[in-house]
Amino acid sequence: MKNSKETLRLDDIHYQIDRQVSLDSVSFCISKGEFKLITGPSGCRKSTLLKIASSLIDPTRGSITFDGKAITAMPPEEYRKRVSYCFQTPVLFGNTVYDNIALTYLICKQPDEQKILVVNAMLIS
Ligand SMILES: Nc1ncnc2c1ncn2[C@@H]1O[C@H](COP(=O)(O)OP(=O)(O)O)[C@@H](O)[C@H]1O
Ligand SMILES: [Mg+2]
Repeated sequence: MKNSKETLRLDDIHYQIDRQVSLDSVSFCISKGEFKLITGPSGCRKSTLLKIASSLIDPTRGSITFDGKAITAMPPEEYRKRVSYCFQTPVLFGNTVYDNIALTYLICKQPDEQKILVVNAMLIS
């Protein structure tokens, strides 16, 4: 039975590259405020599952729903604002904090609001 507090649900997730199956019928759900652990030996595809849950890669089969709605029916940006994934190894680039923050504006093709970015960069550096 569907839990009324349910937020994120993965159903029958399957992932394979060429003929190599790495996830076979994985299902789980997580509710708001709930804390779940995914454990297993290195290489058993934990990160692959998290990338699928955060829509960074698409499953070969299966469905993901967020608050009862298929994520394929949501704009990816909206979904990614709500469900995200923290990489094991931080990826930074360029020479400054500003370079990292400015990337969002570049991707969104928005004007580079340098004054605001400099303030933000100072706040988090
Ligand atoms: N079907 C597949 N075929 C080949 N390589 C895969 C496949 N699925 C995942 N991988 C790769 O296997 C590696 C280990 O998976 P990963 O999800 O990072 O494991 P874990 O987080 O449990 O250590 C990653 O480099 C990933 O890109
Ligand atoms: Mg990992």
